[in-house]
Parts: sequence; structure tokens; C-alpha cells
Amino acid sequence: MSYDADYLVFGSGIAGIWFALKAAEHGSVLVVTKREASESNTRYAQGGIASVTAVGDSFEQHVSDTLVAGAGLCDLAAVERAVREGPEQVQALSDIGVPFDQSGGAFDLGREGGHSQRRVLHAGDVTGKAIAAVLLEAARSHPNIRFAEETVAIDLITLRRLGAEAPDGDRCIGAYVLDKRSGEVRTMLARNTVLATGGAGKVYLYTTNPDVATGDGIAMAYRAGCTVANLEFVQFHPTCLYQPGSKGFLISEALRGEGGELRNAAGEPFMRGLHEMGALAPRDIVARGIDMEMKRTGADCVYLDMTHLPSDFLVERFPTIHETCMSFGIDMRKQPIPVVPACHYFCGGVEVDLDGGTSMDGLYAIGEVAYTGLHGANRLASNSLLEGLVFGARAVAHAAARIHGVAAYPLPEVPTWNRGRARSPDEAVIVSQNWDEIRRFMWNYVGIVRSTKRLLRARRRIDLLLSEIVEYFWDHDVDNDIIELRNIAMVSKLIIESALRRTESRGLHYTLDFPDLGRGTPLPTRLDRRQLEGAFWLRPVLRAGATAPK
Ligand code: FAD
Ligand code: SIN
Repeated sequence: MSYDADYLVFGSGIAGIWFALKAAEHGSVLVVTKREASESNTRYAQGGIASVTAVGDSFEQHVSDTLVAGAGLCDLAAVERAVREGPEQVQALSDIGVPFDQSGGAFDLGREGGHSQRRVLHAGDVTGKAIAAVLLEAARSHPNIRFAEETVAIDLITLRRLGAEAPDGDRCIGAYVLDKRSGEVRTMLARNTVLATGGAGKVYLYTTNPDVATGDGIAMAYRAGCTVANLEFVQFHPTCLYQPGSKGFLISEALRGEGGELRNAAGEPFMRGLHEMGALAPRDIVARGIDMEMKRTGADCVYLDMTHLPSDFLVERFPTIHETCMSFGIDMRKQPIPVVPACHYFCGGVEVDLDGGTSMDGLYAIGEVAYTGLHGANRLASNSLLEGLVFGARAVAHAAARIHGVAAYPLPEVPTWNRGRARSPDEAVIVSQNWDEIRRFMWNYVGIVRSTKRLLRARRRIDLLLSEIVEYFWDHDVDNDIIELRNIAMVSKLIIESALRRTESRGLHYTLDFPDLGRGTPLPTRLDRRQLEGAFWLRPVLRAGATAPK
């Protein structure tokens, strides 16, 4: 047996490709991604990257804004790293060709919710697309980087799972992956494995995320024995276009940063009475404000009003948003845009240290899949792309410094994927039915406003579905749909369990039964196999046989 690469990276968004480019200076890199490499949450980012570059701004203010948005649950060390190391990474991104907008010889800076300053670098209103294009071009032309596209990771391979000696608890040595084109399951082995698989917006019925966001990395890491944290903190973006067929199109917070006002159908600026920053309050507050207003008035949406701003400015600053709205017959220069909240971002994830290291040797998690502690109970706008850059770079530095030690681990014999009792996938309807059901009850019972009763209802449903899904998974040949469904179900279970454990309302977690902040110092909600071991839905996984990943 031999390694396929020094660094095996799952995911081709900002975190994965930034890691790949830097790691390629130290060894061979294999980037595995489940669709074409350009597909990711990163590609859809609009507002930009928050970073201190303006003369009147300061690290202290960016730190303070992040802590305030995070509602007392941020890890100060992670915040300090992200904020202070951000400008260097952002400059490096600009240096390799990302066309951030400029004004008067400096970066043109936008403002978003919760920021006390203009500090968001952007490339028009398609920042993510511009970043992804430049990063992918650089990675594709690097001699040390290879790509495996249309290839989806199924489960991690660890020494303990193989029954081999694991010197430090356990060690990850790669993963089983499905080549979607051939339908074959392959084994990929590496000295370091990196999860950069993004978030899990598809857990919810309405989301701004693309189809790839199914929480695969969170579920894989959890199954392998890693700790996950703070999964109850799911961020709902306040303003998603409300139009049939718009597929969760985001209306960037940057519009409110330029003076956009949120109004109800009667034209009232309802956010002004709810927070001193009005429509530019931190996201949890605005999303909840909209939800309350819709329930109070019985309306299907609220409105983002830009009509008081100069028409030319709107078209020049937000060309893609303007064009998309126009394609639905909405001219934001003349009429307010109908908007609703939608699931947007996961503040929790696989728990990592300040170098992206998980609780398992040889396994890193970076970007949205990770819980670094930066976002606490609510992410400050545009801090996510920043997190991918800073912690991606830190993970490379950490892994590269240890790569020679890793070479000393002898690779055990790794069996090929165990097909178990596999039959061809025969009941597509089961997969789609379960998928729809989960996304709907997650929206209704585990959404913006929660209660213990709703969470317990959700738990009863997910327990039943999860056991059916896991059973189905081991009875059939794997395909992309069942891989994603198993992960969606597992992440839903973890969100519900985390939400039930938090008996207070904080940041993005709001529950009617505990409407106030808890007393004392708040702690992250941590879950690992020890907490849920013995849960019946894990048993079919454990029964699956010695050679199949548990
Ligand atoms: P992603 O960019 O999501 O990449 C994940 C990658 O992993 C994808 O390539 C996916 O195909 C791959 N993958 C997943 N599972 C598997 C698997 N099992 N096997 C193989 N590959 C897999 N943040 C900001 O800071 N500023 C913004 O302006 C902003 N705007 C946003 C707008 C929208 C519409 C959305 C959806 C998000 C926005 N965000 C923004 C959030 C931000 O874009 C994401 O958090 C960030 O891009 C995540 O980057 P990532 O590299 O961690 O993951
Ligand atoms: C937006 O442009 O509103 C999204 C910014 C973010 O999610 O950070």
C-alpha cells in the first residue's frame, strides 16, 4: 500500500483551494470534489471579505464587532488570529489576481450588518465567483496539484477502524470515495486528510446554499469519532429573494450597508424599533425581526427598499442583483424587493484547534465545515471567507512542519470498500421522500424560532428516519443521493441534539421555552460518539462489518 498524496483535500471552495495552493509548496496535493471544481458555496458569495485595511479602522474594532455579533460565545484567540492575520492573506489573494474593487488607490470597502466600519473588500456583487475563478486557475496550473472532480467522499479511513495500532488515540489515513462517473468506490490514502467540505444549508427547506452543501464533512468526522461543536447555531440570512423559481437567490447585506431599508407591506421600517442599528443589526436579530413581522402581519415576505438611492449607483454597485431581480420583473430602482430569511451558514462544525487540527491525528478541518470558535453564537457578516483563508494557511503551516514525522507511520493493509449486502438502489422514491421530509421538519421545528416541544417532535422523526436511512445505506450500492441523504440525516440529528442541550436563548439559537441568556459563562455544545453512543441509530452502522467504516 502507498499514499496517493501528501495532502488529500476534500472540497474546492476557498478553504480547500487556498490550502492546496500553499500545501503544494511542501508536497503533492490531491483535491477531491463532488461536482465540477467550480461548484461550492464560495462561488455564490456576494458581499465580500471583512478585513481591516482602512486607515480609520482597527483590529480592536473588528475584534469587538465579531465578539458582539457572536453573543458571548466566540473564542477570543480564534477571533484575534482571524482579524490580525486576515489582512496578509487578503493581500495575498489580491496579489494573485482577485480583482477587488478599488477606489482612490485603496480597496473600495462595503459595510454589512454588525460592522461598525466599512471594511468589506468585494469584487462587484460577485466576490465569490471572482475568488473561485482566480484560485482554481492557479491550482489547475500548479504541477503539484491534481484534481478528482465528480468524486464524493463517503467515509474516512482511520487506523482504529481498520483494527490497526494507533499510537495517539487514532489516526486518519484517507477515505473511501465514490467516482460518480464510473460508479466505482475507490480508496484514497494520504499523510494528511483535510475536510474543506463546507456547510449544510441543504438540511433546511429554504436555503441560499447550492446543492453540494449537505454537511458531508461534519457527518464523516462525527462518524469517525471527532468532536463536533455548536451545531445549534444555524445562521438564517435575512434577505433572500422571495419569488417562485429564484432558488434561494441572495440579496446581499451590502444593500442594507448602502442604506437599504426593511419595510413591511404597509411601508413601515419595522427594524428601527427593534435595534439601534435598525436593518443593519447583526443577522440573528434581523432574521428574527423579519420572522416576527411576517407572523404578526400574516404576510409571506417583507420588502427591502432601495428606491431612495441613486439609480446609477445601484446598477453599478450591484449589477448581478439588479439583473437577477429584473429577470423576475422587479426593478429595485423603482420598487422594493420582496425578501424572506433562508438558511445560510453553519457557525458550528468539526471542532478544531487554532491550526485547523481536529481531535484526530492526520485530520484537519478548515472553512465552514470547521468550528474554530471565531463565530460564536452568530457569525459577523463576511467573516467566513476570511476564516477559510486564515485557518487554511495556518493548517498548512502546521501540517507541513510535521510531514516528515508522518512518513514514519507504516500503512496497514486497507481493505477495499465492503459492499455488504448491497443491491442496486431500487427505491429512489424512499430517498427523495426522506430528503423532503427532513428538510421540511427541520425548517418548521428547528428553524429561526424553536421550542422544546418542536425539538422533541423533530427528534422523534429524525430517529425513525435515520435508522431507516442507515439500514438502506448498508443494503444498497452507494450512489451520490444516498451518501448525501445519510449525511443530511446525521447532521439534522446533531443539530437537534445540540439545540436540546442549550437551555437558553443566545445568538442564533432562540427558544420560546428559555427566552433569556443563561447564567454564568457560556460554553460550546460539544458532541462526540461518547454522548450519543448507544443511540439505536448508531447501531446499524456499528453492525456493518469489520471492513466497512463504522
Ligand atoms: P465551500 O465553498 O462550500 O466548498 C465546499 C466544497 O466541498 C465544494 O467544492 C463541495 O463540492 C465539496 N464537497 C462537499 N462535500 C464533499 C464530499 N463528500 N466529497 C467531495 N467534495 C465535497 N461569506 C463571506 O464571508 N462573505 C460573503 O459575502 C458571503 N456570501 C455568501 C453568499 C451566499 C449565497 C452563500 C451561500 C454563502 C455566502 N458566504 C459568504 C458564506 C461563504 O461563502 C462560505 O461560508 C464559504 O465560501 C465556505 O467556503 P468553504 O471552502 O469552507 O466551503
Ligand atoms: C451577503 O452578501 O449578504 C452575505 C455575506 C455573508 O454571508 O457573509
